[in-house]
Amino acid sequence: MTVLRILVADDLSEEGLEILRRDAEVEVRNGMSEDELRDTLPGFHALIVRSATTVTGPSLENADVLSVIGRAGIGVDNIDVEAASVRGIVVMNTPEAGAVTTGELAIALMMSLARNIPAADASMKAGRWEKNKLLGTELRGQTLGVLGLGRIGRVVADRGRGLKMKVIAHDPFVDADRAPEGVRMVTFDELLRDSDFLSVHVPLTDETRGLIGPDELAKMKSSARIMNGARGGIVNEEALCDALEAGDIAGAALDVFDREPLPDDNRLRLTKNLVLTPHLGASTREAKRNVSLDMARQVITCLKKGVALNGINVPRVPPSQADRVAPFLTLARNLASFLMQVYPGRLRSLRLTLQGKLLLSAKEPLRVAMLAGALGCRADRPVTPVNADRVAEEMGVRHHVETSTLKRDFVNLLRIETLLDDERHFVSGTVLGHRHGRMVELDHFLMDAIPEGPLLVTFHHDEPGVIGRIASLVGSEGLNISRLQLGVPDNGHTSAGALGLLNLSSPIPPEAIEKVLADPGIIAAHSVRL
Ligand code: 3PG
Repeated sequence: MTVLRILVADDLSEEGLEILRRDAEVEVRNGMSEDELRDTLPGFHALIVRSATTVTGPSLENADVLSVIGRAGIGVDNIDVEAASVRGIVVMNTPEAGAVTTGELAIALMMSLARNIPAADASMKAGRWEKNKLLGTELRGQTLGVLGLGRIGRVVADRGRGLKMKVIAHDPFVDADRAPEGVRMVTFDELLRDSDFLSVHVPLTDETRGLIGPDELAKMKSSARIMNGARGGIVNEEALCDALEAGDIAGAALDVFDREPLPDDNRLRLTKNLVLTPHLGASTREAKRNVSLDMARQVITCLKKGVALNGINVPRVPPSQADRVAPFLTLARNLASFLMQVYPGRLRSLRLTLQGKLLLSAKEPLRVAMLAGALGCRADRPVTPVNADRVAEEMGVRHHVETSTLKRDFVNLLRIETLLDDERHFVSGTVLGHRHGRMVELDHFLMDAIPEGPLLVTFHHDEPGVIGRIASLVGSEGLNISRLQLGVPDNGHTSAGALGLLNLSSPIPPEAIEKVLADPGIIAAHSVRL
C-alpha cells in the first residue's frame, strides 16, 4: 500500500500534526520560497499551509502525486486555485474553525478605536497622563456596518447587537429575507453613508480589490471608523492614509495589509488615528487548535476516502452526510473505471442514474466522481473530481445525471451507462452496511461483487469446469483469489454465457491473461485495477 506523505509548510498545532501522523509520514518545513516549495513537493500527496506560504502555479510544476492542498484557515488568496484545479488538485479550507476568533478581533479593533486604547497605552508608556486628550465614544446606539455577511460577518453582526448597536449590512449574495435577526440589509452606498463603524468581511477577489478607495471613503461620515480584518487590498492603503490625515474619517484599524509582513518604512506605520495589528485575525489558542484539527481530519479524509470536505474547487458534499456518501463516491469512480477497463472503444457519453434520498443529496459529487473514474482510463493525464469537467469538455464526452427508480429492492442504487463507439454498456452498484461497495449488475448479468483492488474479469461459456481451470491457472501464477463471484444472466438472457469476477492479491500479468484466453471455455478476459 502507498505510504501517504504530507508536507506541512506553515504553523500547525501539535494536535493536528498527531492526527496526520497516525496515517501518514509528515514533514514540517516552514518559510519556503516558491522555488524551494517546487523542489520539495515531488512525492507529497498533500500540502498544508496557512497564510504565510504562497502556493503559485510554478511551485506546483513538479507536484507529481499531490492531490490536495489544505489551507488551515479561511482565506485562500495565497493559493493559485486555478493552477491547482488544472492539475486536478483539491483545494480546501476550514471556514468554521476560525470564524468566531476572527469576528472577535474585529470587535476588539472597534473597541480600541472607540476608546483610544492603543494610543492611551503608548502615551502611558511614554510617561504621560493624557486623560482629556483621549476622549472616546460610546458604542451603544451607534451604527455598525458589516460589509460581507458570511460566517465572520455574522459573528460581528451578532456581537454588535449584543453591544446595543444598530447593525446594517451589505452583501450582494444575501437577500434581505435571509439576513440575521436585527440586521438590516442596505446598499453599498447606504452602508458607507450610515456606518459609524464599518467592518470589512469580504474575501479578496478581483471584484473586491480596492473596494474601499478614495471615492468610497469620501462618502463616509467624518466621524466614521473602519476596521479591516479580512484581507489587505480591499481597503486602498494610500487612500486610507490620505483620508485619515485630512480628517475625512476619524479612525481606522487594520489587521491585514497589501504586503505582509508590513515593510518597516510603510506610510501606515506613521499615520495617526490608525491602529495596526500583525494579521492576528485567527491567532487565538482556540482557533489555532481548531483550525489545525479540522484541516488534519479533512486532509486525511480526502486522501483516504476521496471526500473533499470544504473543498472550494469541487462540488460540495454535505458534511452531515459525508460518512455515508463517501463509499458511494468510491463506488461511482470504481464502477465507471471498471466499464472503461472491460470494454474498449471511444468514450462518447456517460449517464449516471441515481435512486435514493442519500444519493440525491450528493448528485454533483457523484457525477464528478464517475467522470474522474471513467476519464482517468482514457485521458493522457490524471483526472480527479477537480478537473473532470474540463477534461470531459476537452475530450468531447457528454455526460449527465438523472434520478429514477431503478430497482425497488435497493434503498440507494447508482447506475452508470456509457456509450463506447456505438456500443452501450451499463453497471449498477450499491453500498452495504454504509461501508461496503457492491457491483450488482453489469449489462444483463446479476451479481454481488466487490469492485475494488485488482480483478480478473472473464466472460465464459456457462459449462462445467471452466471456473475450476481459471482458478488453477491463477493459482499457478502465484496469485491468491480472495473472492470469486459468478454473474448469471438475468431473465430473458439464458444463452448469454457467464461472467466471472475474481478479486486477486495482485494484478494478473498480461502473459497470464494470454493463458486464460487460450482456454476453450473463455470468450474474453480482462485485468482490471480499481
Ligand atoms: C484566515 O484567512 O484564516 C486568517 O486570515 C488567518 O490567517 P493565518 O492562518 O495565517 O493566521
